[in-house]
Amino acid sequence: MRFAVIVSFGLAAVTLSMNNTASADPAAGEDAFNANKCSDCHYTRGPAREKTIADQLAKKGPELWYAGSKFQQPWLEQWLQDPQPIRNMKYNSVTEENPGGHPKLAAGDAASVTEFLMSLTSSDVEAGIIKPKRHPMGRLIFVKKMPCSGCHQFPGRKFTGGNSGPSLLHAGTRLNPDWIYAYLKNIDTFKPVRAMPNFSGILSDREMQSVAAYVATFE
Ligand code: HEC
Ligand code: HEC
Repeated sequence: MRFAVIVSFGLAAVTLSMNNTASADPAAGEDAFNANKCSDCHYTRGPAREKTIADQLAKKGPELWYAGSKFQQPWLEQWLQDPQPIRNMKYNSVTEENPGGHPKLAAGDAASVTEFLMSLTSSDVEAGIIKPKRHPMGRLIFVKKMPCSGCHQFPGRKFTGGNSGPSLLHAGTRLNPDWIYAYLKNIDTFKPVRAMPNFSGILSDREMQSVAAYVATFE
């Protein structure tokens, strides 16, 4: 029964993509990605651990080979049309501010590029584990027990966090909760040059899940 459902869903998806305009097609999205020179600054092949530091520094923007596991689709499609800074500091820098001015895409290209990026996933991200929750344990870890808030902006009342990591404001609409957990657990898989500290071995699995669930509520 379950198999039948998956098969018919698969067929429906194929029919859909055949009937659709080229704009919702991942292959058209890959062409638009290259035509817009996105590949000058972003890798779409992983994993990070197979790249040298020089390889990683050769690109000015974050790796996107796991974008489909990291981002929420509606956020991505909207951001590509109106990209506001995510990191307070310039990517890979602790001293220079983010200059902003990320290239913009028109709606049609944003839709197809989003389809392309959402097709890039990592098998290290297991689906359906983390549900966003204002977990007291997660909150305690984020604001007190661990230095998360010293490096990341978050929706706090008085203290709103540090600047050296990406801002986590709106993480709840931007990031896939399961990816947040996978990132904490398996940082080497996703490691950018300026990696955040490795928390696996410091936090238990349950603690990583609760802090991921907490971050996934950030508005
Ligand atoms: C000149 C280099 C450059 C080009 C060209 C460029 N980007 Fe970026 N991109 C960046 C930088 C730097 C960031 C980090 C921005 C921030 O944190 O605010 C970024 C961030 C992103 C993000 C969010 C990634 C994350 O992990 O936070 C996505 C998605 C993205 N770019 C897609 C694209 C697409 C699609 C194009 C082509 C239209 C493109 N970029 C072109 C440099 C570039
Ligand atoms: C010493 C500073 C530091 C600390 C402490 C720290 N982080 Fe980070 N964090 C970073 C950096 C640096 C990155 C990745 C940089 C990049 O991609 O530009 C990052 C990335 C992240 C991301 C991915 C954000 C994105 O949009 O790519 C999440 C989620 C995150 N951290 C959560 C946490 C949590 C939860 C804790 C505490 C358990 C924590 N961080 C502690 C510096 C830190």
